[in-house]
Amino acid sequence: MIVLGIETSCDETGVGIVRHDGAAPVLLANEVASSVDEHARFGGVVPEVASRAHLQAMVPAVRRALATAGVTARDVDAVAVTAGPGLTGALLVGVAAAKAYATAWDVPLYGVNHLAAHVAVDTLQHGPLPPCLALLVSGGHSSLLDVPDVAGPVTPLGATIDDAAGEAFDKIARLLGLPFPGGPHVDRVAADGDPRAVAFPRGLTGPRDAPFDFSFSGLKTAVARHVEALERAGTPVPVADVAASFQEAVVDVLTAKAVRAARERGAETLLLGGGVAANSRLRALAQERCDAAGIALRVPRPGLCTDNGAMVAALGAHLAVAGAPASPLDLPADSAMPV
Ligand code: KG4
Ligand code: ZN
Repeated sequence: MIVLGIETSCDETGVGIVRHDGAAPVLLANEVASSVDEHARFGGVVPEVASRAHLQAMVPAVRRALATAGVTARDVDAVAVTAGPGLTGALLVGVAAAKAYATAWDVPLYGVNHLAAHVAVDTLQHGPLPPCLALLVSGGHSSLLDVPDVAGPVTPLGATIDDAAGEAFDKIARLLGLPFPGGPHVDRVAADGDPRAVAFPRGLTGPRDAPFDFSFSGLKTAVARHVEALERAGTPVPVADVAASFQEAVVDVLTAKAVRAARERGAETLLLGGGVAANSRLRALAQERCDAAGIALRVPRPGLCTDNGAMVAALGAHLAVAGAPASPLDLPADSAMPV
């Protein structure tokens, strides 16, 4: 079975193709066109700009994906698409395109959840996924999910109550004069800094706080106050130390809560996903804490962690093979789709 997946929930137009004949789907193509440069001067994603960019990029991306995979439209057995959550206008472009391709090629359509797709993508790299606890961290989401089966319902355990982890990275990068999107730049700059230089607050870690929710807005304010105080005093801002201390505060909370959730739910595997899972310190500390807790850690390579079409194709293939019902052709886009 060959499945083509379309992702347009934010600023990446992703088209992926997988083949699923055995234990796990195999990646054939993963074309990603990003409009990130068009958003850079605004310091964040502009929904209208993203939607227009998806419209322009969609058909060429599908053609490139088919060519890269070495298949023709006639070989495709199903089309999968992100139906939510995400930006409504952006989602609608992908959903409309997927309906058109599914109709023209006379194959079933699978509308999938973006977060569940971030989990399913790991099977392209590491094979069948045992029941796991997933920590999904990106510019749009920060969630802890209990995932008994990659193609089945998942239980959300917690999420951010304010900023997403990636959003916090992007805002702090801006504050430190680093380009957008700031996550990779904070990661790079922090490598030369001391993570213990400033003891920034760890949000929602008190005994009465929700154990699996996250909050990053207090941390963001604390970093801003720290930088402002230095500037007022005429002291040069030690960018590397501030970046490293901020990053440590985020990663400390993310890994502590993820490992605790895995323990409490009896999950033997922890999976990281989303753009922030590319963070070198997050990967290192997660590995350290999983080793100490006897938990297996799975992290897809960075190109599969950020938004892409292969993750959607992978989940579509799992659903099709599991015999899940296809979506109707009036499938709506749902910007707030629960997982
Ligand atoms: O999953 P993704 O590509 O798109 C969303 O769904 O948001 O994630 C993008 C986010 C951005 O906020 C970006 O700054 C962050 O992931 N990011 C990182 C790193 N690489 C990307 N954050 C921290 N460290 C990184 N190395
Ligand atoms: Zn995402």
